[in-house]
Amino acid sequence: MYVCICNAVNDAQIEEAAAKGARSLADLERMLGVATGCGCCAQEAEQRLSEARTTDPAAMPSNPGFQPA
Ligand code: FES
Repeated sequence: MYVCICNAVNDAQIEEAAAKGARSLADLERMLGVATGCGCCAQEAEQRLSEARTTDPAAMPSNPGFQPA
């Protein structure tokens, strides 16, 4: 499902970004362009990122392979 219509970013891309170390909306903005248009997706994007980080062990800071962006 698309989260950011302006930049055609979907939830799977946000999950992938989380697995690659995205920790904040600023990270999503830099990595995917989320919320850099109208900005109305910001809250939803942050929620999706939070969910992805709590369900994906690879996105957790305690994971030895974790490398923040
Ligand atoms: S919907 Fe994401 S910037 Fe507009």
